[in-house]
Amino acid sequence: MKSIVLHIIVLLTLYLARECQAVKINKISVPSYFDLHSENKNQPLILECDYDTDDDDTGVVLKWLLNSVSIYQWIPLNTVNPTGLKSFKNRIDLEYNKDLPEKQRYSTLVIKNPTIADTGNYSCDVQTFKSHDRKTAPITIVYVDDSIKLNYFIDEIENQVNFECSINQIYPLPEVTFLIGNEARNFSSPLETHVFTNIYHNISVSAQINKEEIEDDEEVTCLVRIPTIDYEKKASVHYDENYGHMIRANLLLSIIMYLILLMIKSMAF
Ligand SMILES: *[C@@H]1O[C@H](CO)[C@@H](O)[C@H](O)[C@H]1NC(C)=O
Ligand SMILES: *[C@@H]1O[C@H](CO)[C@@H](O)[C@H](O)[C@H]1NC(C)=O
Ligand SMILES: *[C@@H]1O[C@H](CO)[C@@H](O)[C@H](O)[C@H]1NC(C)=O
Repeated sequence: MKSIVLHIIVLLTLYLARECQAVKINKISVPSYFDLHSENKNQPLILECDYDTDDDDTGVVLKWLLNSVSIYQWIPLNTVNPTGLKSFKNRIDLEYNKDLPEKQRYSTLVIKNPTIADTGNYSCDVQTFKSHDRKTAPITIVYVDDSIKLNYFIDEIENQVNFECSINQIYPLPEVTFLIGNEARNFSSPLETHVFTNIYHNISVSAQINKEEIEDDEEVTCLVRIPTIDYEKKASVHYDENYGHMIRANLLLSIIMYLILLMIKSMAF
């Protein structure tokens, strides 16, 4: 009796496993991030879904979803073209892959003019009469305009060096850290951060360090990272301890000039 039950369980498991195998998404290929600036300007966002079905498994409905909301649907049996849904209605490019076989052409989602609002979890979902499979991957839309600026000035009164790192037009909000050489030496913490947001963020972060803790010509780096994705950019300067003295000399010169001017003025009256 026991062996019969076992037998039935094994057969049932095999049967179910076969059922589950009927449609299989092998993989979805999406970029982990897409930088709107730089070389991607005017490029579409391309999401590929590679799936297989058994020969006897028909009635395929392929969908792409963004954060669990359908944005694209393709039914191979229908003669009408697949369409974008909701806000993606007019943003799907069906011409882009036109030389590929129909299956790849229409399982691939080509989104025109991506924006930061397209950040999210994308799923390819394939449903057949018999089975169902879904795979999901996140995409972060990134925007980073030109370069990072790193400046510093020496505050003789407080006996410290103030570094300021600023990045304009960035999305999402990055993490900013300062390094001297390769180490994060005793910078003031927490760092002072200002963020201005329009569509993208403008961020400026400042950090102070005691003058004694940094030597002439040491390299200071501002490291800008976007968490969760493999994105890193940096800017470096070589600290010049005379830079501050130059400012002081200039200041002294200005004061002398001002005094001379005042003297000339008072002599004129
Ligand atoms: C995407 O999925 C991850 C992990 O499941 C989740 O933490 C995150 O909040 C999701 N993002 C969105 C925009 O829903
Ligand atoms: C800087 O860090 C060192 C150890 O790395 C410590 O000995 C020193 O007291 C720190 N200086 C300041 C000003 O905090
Ligand atoms: C952010 O920086 C850009 C470029 O420098 C500038 O045009 C814009 O006005 C700034 N936005 C805010 C909100 O400060």
